[in-house]
Amino acid sequence: MARILITSAIPYINGIKHLGNLVGSQLPADLYARYMRARGHEVMFICATDEHGTPAELAAAKAGKPVAEYCAEMHAVQKELSDGFRLSFDKFGRSSSPQNRALTQHFAGKLAENGLIEEVTEKQVYSVADGRFLPDRYIEGTCPNCGYDKARGDQCENCTKQLDPTDLIDPRSAISGSTDLEVRETKHLYLRQSALRDRLDAWIDSQSGWPVLTTSIAKKWLHDGDGLQDRGITRDLDWGVPVKKGDQDWPGMEGKVFYVWFDAPIEYIAATKEWADAEGLPDSAWRRWWRTDEGAGDVRYVQFMGKDNVPFHTLSFPATLMGSGEPWKLVDYIKSFNYLNYDGGQFSTSQGRGVFMDQALDILPSDYWRWWLLSHAPENSDSEFTWENFQASVNKDLADVLGNFVSRVTKFCRSKFGEEVPAGGETGPREAALIDDLARRVAAYNAHMEAMEIRKAAQELRAIWAAGNEYLQDAAPWAVFKEDPDAAAAIVRLSLNLIRLYAVLSEPFVPDAAATLRQAMHTEDAGWPDDVAAALPALPPGHAFAVPDNLFRKIADEEREDWQARFAGQRR
Ligand code: 2FM
Ligand code: ZN
Repeated sequence: MARILITSAIPYINGIKHLGNLVGSQLPADLYARYMRARGHEVMFICATDEHGTPAELAAAKAGKPVAEYCAEMHAVQKELSDGFRLSFDKFGRSSSPQNRALTQHFAGKLAENGLIEEVTEKQVYSVADGRFLPDRYIEGTCPNCGYDKARGDQCENCTKQLDPTDLIDPRSAISGSTDLEVRETKHLYLRQSALRDRLDAWIDSQSGWPVLTTSIAKKWLHDGDGLQDRGITRDLDWGVPVKKGDQDWPGMEGKVFYVWFDAPIEYIAATKEWADAEGLPDSAWRRWWRTDEGAGDVRYVQFMGKDNVPFHTLSFPATLMGSGEPWKLVDYIKSFNYLNYDGGQFSTSQGRGVFMDQALDILPSDYWRWWLLSHAPENSDSEFTWENFQASVNKDLADVLGNFVSRVTKFCRSKFGEEVPAGGETGPREAALIDDLARRVAAYNAHMEAMEIRKAAQELRAIWAAGNEYLQDAAPWAVFKEDPDAAAAIVRLSLNLIRLYAVLSEPFVPDAAATLRQAMHTEDAGWPDDVAAALPALPPGHAFAVPDNLFRKIADEEREDWQARFAGQRR
């Protein structure tokens, strides 16, 4: 049994996330967590809301609420939606927690002790029209790297380059659009990432098997141009973690807070402490996941995120951890994703374009979405959500293949043998061939899940379902029954056991359907089928079951057209 720490990029607090956000980190992380638990490993699965920074302040102002109150409310909303999608976090924390405040200040203090923080009096963009310093992401302009004209002052979302606002060409206030911007003096802290460049470089080189998408982005920022830049880690804002060195005041930094990207990844650690505190456990309970001197040496740490988050997780966060000089656990594997597009364009929170998590659950249960999103995860390139594709995938994979198999087997058995696993008959070469085929496929499925090859895993699972359907079609117990009821019983017995097997194997993708199947089969046996042949007779003759309600319904053309029209415009 291994210990596996899994974190998903923490979603910004300002608003409900769309399906593109969901498939870009939280959902695949959940798939992996569920799989690893099912294989008997000890898992700690962490996510949280990313609550600091200007976006939170501005969203609260827009909602007419104090920012702390707004964040508490939105956290509850996001928590309910993540439960709705069955995201099985051990803790869904909050980056505004006291735990994160203390840890963020702790790291800053350690970095300062180690000479890795520089105090810089710098000139910052002040918007006369808005009467405030403009945080980086509220300055828009043209990216000096790729020419994209809506680049933000912190990062260009087109080419992923991390930027400083002064890099932008033709800058303007994103709040008012005003170009009446002045540069004024203010003091800030910089993390001397450049001093850690060689260590970061060597660490990245020492990682084996990272996806190309991850390493190429990291290497680019290490080596392009002047190499890794030092990063400002403080801001002139009210809302955030107050700048302190550990629990000491930091002279000259009064009234300033840490930059949201400094405290956000630290929340992975803090949320684990939030978990321990909520469970009434001692600090050792969370530290064994994070401190290599306290047990985390044998933890495997996997992070999930969208590609725009990669620089922060391959460079900035490791710089914080390494620079502390303390034995914190560094990530072992980063699974990063491309973007999911929506019906010929981009999902967009600011423009309300696409399907958002609450809307999705209003239309259909979470399994339908989980299946489509995971089986179309944007792993090797961007992928696209279309309603036609969604309809086809739900109707074929879930209704026609898995749902149909379960319904045919259970109803046939009920009508001929009653609601219990029938006795009698022998299996033959057809069954042996099926079991061989399934054993090969389950091994492939396991390998894809271990490797986080999500689309391939989904394909294999679909093939596993289809193998049952084909077997049933060929074996045709309804025909055999007329001549030889015992032979039909053997076919049905194997098929009922396949349903149990499918419940176990499918759980990471479609947990609700899996639970329905397990209940219908009156079994709590969720043991992973290491040996398919040995696992198949789990339900013995005489074992009672019930015919489950229709597992998945089909999406009709009119419905699909209706949704297509409903979601063509902007949200609210
Ligand atoms: O891109 C985002 O949605 C960020 N809120 C992700 C932060 S991940 C980490 F640093 F915590
Ligand atoms: Zn760019």
